[in-house]
Amino acid sequence: MAIFVFDAYGTLFNVHAAIARFRSQAGPEADRMSELWRAKQLEYSWTLTLAGRYADFWVLTERALDYSLTSFPSVDKALRPKLLEAYFKLGAFPDARAALRALKTKGHKTGILSNGSPNMLKGAIDAANVGGDLDAVLSVDSLKMFKPRPEVYGLVTDHYQCKPAEVTFVSSNRWDVMASVSVGFRGLWVNRGKLPDEYFDFPPRQELADLNELAAFD
Ligand code: 2OP
Repeated sequence: MAIFVFDAYGTLFNVHAAIARFRSQAGPEADRMSELWRAKQLEYSWTLTLAGRYADFWVLTERALDYSLTSFPSVDKALRPKLLEAYFKLGAFPDARAALRALKTKGHKTGILSNGSPNMLKGAIDAANVGGDLDAVLSVDSLKMFKPRPEVYGLVTDHYQCKPAEVTFVSSNRWDVMASVSVGFRGLWVNRGKLPDEYFDFPPRQELADLNELAAFD
């Protein structure tokens, strides 16, 4: 039995699935708007944490969308409530459910460690129908600070009462893998976009093209 813990947004849930539902209405700058939405959401989480402040991830998601819609006036602002509703019920990547299922079938523990607020995580987990294959859903909200603070990763070892080396942490965010490796987890980087590597002082144990490759891990 091993412990597999997943990042949520970007790893199990596709953060660009919201704009994908409205791309034709949103126009030619839809994808750039969605990229900025994600970048600003993360930036706010980092800057607030550095400043010793906190607002929950749903609030940051709303503020980031407002900034992005203002930055791309060609995208109709009337889409705001629809995009937020879609973000609350984000779809999972096609390989996510099968990967969780396969790990559970092998008898492993599976969990989520996410910046997401408990409420929005529940929305996404229910919409993707993956709750039955997750033992734990850990949110930074209990600490009121965001990744990559090391205390956040400590939620995993506290929950499972285990040593960091016993945790396999799976994320598509290279900076998240960096922080997990820094605290002693076995970090796996899901590099769907074939991005260049970075944070060379904290390398992943392995780079995966997608979650299907988890089948090879024990
Ligand atoms: C998550 O914690 C970082 O968005 C990412 O779910």
